[in-house]
Amino acid sequence: MRLKLLAGLLLTGGLLQPSPGALADTGQWLQSECGSCHALEQPDYPALGHAERLTRKGPPLYYAGNKFHAGWLESWLQDPVRIRPAGVFPPGAVVPSEEGDLIDPANLEEHLVLDANQAKKAADYLMALRPHDELIAATSYEPGSVARRMGELNFTKFNGCDACHSDGPGYGGLSGPELYTAWQRLQPGFIASFIADPAAWDPHTLMPKTGLNDSAVERLANYLKLIGEEAP
Ligand code: HEC
Ligand code: HEC
Repeated sequence: MRLKLLAGLLLTGGLLQPSPGALADTGQWLQSECGSCHALEQPDYPALGHAERLTRKGPPLYYAGNKFHAGWLESWLQDPVRIRPAGVFPPGAVVPSEEGDLIDPANLEEHLVLDANQAKKAADYLMALRPHDELIAATSYEPGSVARRMGELNFTKFNGCDACHSDGPGYGGLSGPELYTAWQRLQPGFIASFIADPAAWDPHTLMPKTGLNDSAVERLANYLKLIGEEAP
């Protein structure tokens, strides 16, 4: 261990940069701690087919650097609060009832917690994973504002996003990630790109293709900005 560290330091010639050896170590550590639930490399989707989605235990992380805000990632790993009210595979956690679908928390696990050091190392590594720079570059989204009433109508009546997503605590659907915190978690370019074409990011996503044009995507992203800036 010590020898490896020394060799790493000699190779990069400094203490400040993570050495290639240290990065490889972090990669191995994440693979063993997280790899059973999260894809850290792009899966061979065509070969795996839809079984990949059914057996997925956590959201894919191999494009983390295109998706998350680095600061959010580092702090969430130390204090993981639930993002998907029904987990990663909602049909597994939802119990139908006469009042509609209920979530059985017994079917949801708590996320593992990292200490500050580990979270920093993990976040640095994950933020360097950016295989989809081209999708981000293809969006022309510039964050702006939208009137609340218009934003809300777009999210609910006109586009039905609320069937699966909540735009406030206790409002909206439960099968998708909560979206009133999306602006705090996610990069604006990712939000716009994912709304425009979810399958470009995740060929096995459960989110249907929206077919929305650029200005409709912008209005929805601006609504997530509006509610995200107010979220606790
Ligand atoms: C037992 C399975 C499991 C393991 C092991 C695990 N995770 Fe997770 N992880 C999950 C699940 C399930 C979620 C979804 C939580 C939610 O949405 O509330 C998640 C969510 C996340 C998220 C948020 C992703 C997103 O797209 O919203 C990050 C980041 C994350 N995990 C990082 C890690 C890291 C780093 C490790 C290893 C140190 C790890 N996880 C280990 C199951 C796991
Ligand atoms: C049929 C359910 C469904 C509908 C309708 C839907 N989504 Fe989604 N959405 C999902 C799911 C599920 C995910 C997470 C990816 C997955 O698990 O496949 C997601 C992911 C997202 C994400 C990325 C969030 C993250 O944390 O990873 C955004 C942004 C988003 N949806 C916005 C929207 C908007 C805006 C609309 C309305 C135009 C919409 N969605 C309609 C199910 C839905």
